[in-house]
Amino acid sequence: MVVKSICCLGAGYVGGPTCSVIALKCPEIKVTVVDKSKERIAQWNSDKLPIYEPGLDEVVKASRGKNLFFSDDCDAAIVEADLIFISVNTPTKTFGNGKGRAPDLKFVEGAARMIANVAKSNKIVVEKSTVPVNAAESVMKILKANQRPGVSYQILSNPEFLAEGTAINDLLNADRVLIGGEETAAGEAAIEELCKIYEHWIPRKKILTTNTWSSELSKLAANAMLAQRISSINSLSAVCEATGADITEVARAVGLDSRIGPKFLQASIGFGGSCFQKDILNLVYICECLNLPHVAAYWQSVIDMNQHQKHRFTAKVIESLFNTVSGKNICILGFAFKKNTGDTRESAAIYVSKTLIDEGASIKIYDPKVEKPQIYEDLKYVGVTDEQFQRHVTICNDAYLATKECHAVVLCTEWDEFVTLDYEKIYDQMMKPAHMFDGRKILDHNNLLRIGFHVETIGSRL
Ligand code: NAD
Ligand code: UGA
Repeated sequence: MVVKSICCLGAGYVGGPTCSVIALKCPEIKVTVVDKSKERIAQWNSDKLPIYEPGLDEVVKASRGKNLFFSDDCDAAIVEADLIFISVNTPTKTFGNGKGRAPDLKFVEGAARMIANVAKSNKIVVEKSTVPVNAAESVMKILKANQRPGVSYQILSNPEFLAEGTAINDLLNADRVLIGGEETAAGEAAIEELCKIYEHWIPRKKILTTNTWSSELSKLAANAMLAQRISSINSLSAVCEATGADITEVARAVGLDSRIGPKFLQASIGFGGSCFQKDILNLVYICECLNLPHVAAYWQSVIDMNQHQKHRFTAKVIESLFNTVSGKNICILGFAFKKNTGDTRESAAIYVSKTLIDEGASIKIYDPKVEKPQIYEDLKYVGVTDEQFQRHVTICNDAYLATKECHAVVLCTEWDEFVTLDYEKIYDQMMKPAHMFDGRKILDHNNLLRIGFHVETIGSRL
């Protein structure tokens, strides 16, 4: 089979950018990204894409309408495709067996059933979603049990390693592409077809092929180990604050060891994002099911440390404001889980905001890419009532409005524009004493102290 047509089920943060890059690099292949949400597809077809990602607009515009299409007609795209990516969401289960830990695979299963119901020709089905080890086997069972005569399937695992905010660069210059498949002649042929697609722009030596299980586990392992580095450095940030050591200096000294390396050692308010917590919980659950309680406890501690860091930082804000924030105005600078994305899933800012609201503070939020309806949904999800939202939350369109008449500023996201704000102006319009809590260690603390701010940050005493 030579792949002439690709379909991607799921037009989210992964499906959209990944398939836009494939379409750009493989002009001879027709790529159709489908989603069951008509609204999301309409946005992909508009001038305002549903996600903010640097460089994405240009990549989409280069191919959309030529060999890249966004559609809500899932069945038609499946019928036409030779290769189908499953790129649907795999959130943590909120009920039933494995609640709070196991991933909810209902969307993956739904996607497999859609394929089985309509496919009329052979398909290579590629798991792009992050799934538990062994999920490919479940997808295969569903496909086989519902298979039409004459139709055969090959299942591949091809986890995605892009990070939000740098997705286009990560896709164009991937460290590696991982493809797992069946160790049979047909499995190897399918792997080869997917390799050929990536080889349009990724050197062959960076395309790694493994058995399906190794591929599935490698994705969970990569995220767990990245998150573990953050929890490790964040745990040491607490030691720094207690001793007078400086976490930036410690991270630099440690990261210069070539065996350790400098990346992912930025102490912070705690990691957020849709995947680290979800994928580690998934790993913990797998370990428990495999009767490996010590291994499960080890990875669980990475999450526990992250919760502790968010809690520790928020407690410091309250403590510094004389142990009461009731009736005080507090500005939250940044609501996204990291810079250069509008994504707020598991953002530490949600935890900080909710805690401060519960303590009676009025909060004013500004984020360059997160809009009011999203903030409302996020706070509602963690239990902020409509009445609390009306009375205690104001969403602002710029940082100066957000900081005006505030007792404190809490910086939660490391947006570049926060570094260059006029902090003299901000200080002048704040209540005194004016407090600055830098949860990302990006500001010039000496300058802030000189202006007159009381400054607190992570991992060092000022
Ligand atoms: P997302 O929620 O942004 O997008 C998923 C989309 O799938 C939604 O728009 C949903 O409507 C759609 N969908 C669900 N079931 C469908 C079906 N049967 N047919 C068609 N569309 C369907 O999720 P995401 O962030 O793109 O993540 C997708 C997967 O990729 C997850 O497993 C995640 O763990 C993994 N992943 C995410 C990232 C990231 O940075 N967000 C990076 C690597 C891997
Ligand atoms: C992460 C991984 O980096 C990707 O490789 C992976 O594909 C993706 O998860 C996924 O599977 O979803 P992402 O969550 O988009 O990507 O962003 P990261 O850059 O990893 O940041 C995650 C969180 O960790 C952010 O809140 C960030 O601010 C925080 N972080 C990151 C730190 O606190 N310190 C650091 O040194 C690095």
